Amino acid sequence: MAGIIDGKAIAAKIKEGLMSEVERFKRERNITPGLSVILVGDNPASRIYVKNKGRACEEVGIRSTQHTLPAQTTRKELLDLISALNGDPSVHAILVQLPLPSRLDTHEVLEAISPEKDVDGFHPYNVGRLVCGRPAFIPCTPKGIMRLIDSTGVTLSGQEAVVLGRSNVVGKPTAFMLLQRDVTVTVCHSKTRGLPEKILSADIVVAAIGRPEFVKGKWIKPGAIVIDVGINRTERGLAGDVEFGAAKERASYITPVPGGVGPMTIAMLLSNTVEAAKRAENFL
Ligand code: GUN
Repeated sequence: MAGIIDGKAIAAKIKEGLMSEVERFKRERNITPGLSVILVGDNPASRIYVKNKGRACEEVGIRSTQHTLPAQTTRKELLDLISALNGDPSVHAILVQLPLPSRLDTHEVLEAISPEKDVDGFHPYNVGRLVCGRPAFIPCTPKGIMRLIDSTGVTLSGQEAVVLGRSNVVGKPTAFMLLQRDVTVTVCHSKTRGLPEKILSADIVVAAIGRPEFVKGKWIKPGAIVIDVGINRTERGLAGDVEFGAAKERASYITPVPGGVGPMTIAMLLSNTVEAAKRAENFL
């Protein structure tokens, strides 16, 4: 039976460390790291995510400001706000909550954020640096996934991983981070043929497709590490992308939903924000 990777506990420990870093920053330089979050429209899930991000900032002493714009906000209004935040030295980090209303061009908006303040790691500059193996802001969920895998203590080099999902937010950056650690990575998606066999050959499975319990327990290679990124609301409550009960009988380590990847994503946002502030203020 698998060990359960306790993302909540690992995230709590990371937050403790960040709290003392923020305290030292304030004490030695009288500077408070600042994050600005922009929310456009009234997507209910986004509202909750943004609220949770604000609360987490408060917990570790980061100053967070929220800009809530109406759904009919124009391209120019949004770009002007980003430009103002780019130029505000008290704002070290900027996050535009996705998804944006479909009228707005997400790529254009993300490219307007200064790469030095891009704590989501979605700007092509940071994406390119990640792909090249250069220091960059790493998207929060993939960064959290790597921390969870590393918490098991396994040596990654030479392992085989299947990443299920090819989004810019999770699948693609996770694949590149694993590759950077000398893992052999297969990225699978909705058009992939022979998925069960591919997953069965994987030492590490990262499931990020947003379909409840899509990955069956019997597809898991005995001894594999299973990271479940899914947060699916079902009639029976929250479900991951993996059939947890059956998968945990075969895996060596597995993340629960909730309490696995979710808390890590926010902890990594806080970590990237502190990092952005340190770099901007040359505080090492
Ligand atoms: N929406 C879902 N996940 C994310 C994320 O990691 N960052 C942003 N900005 N929006 C999201």
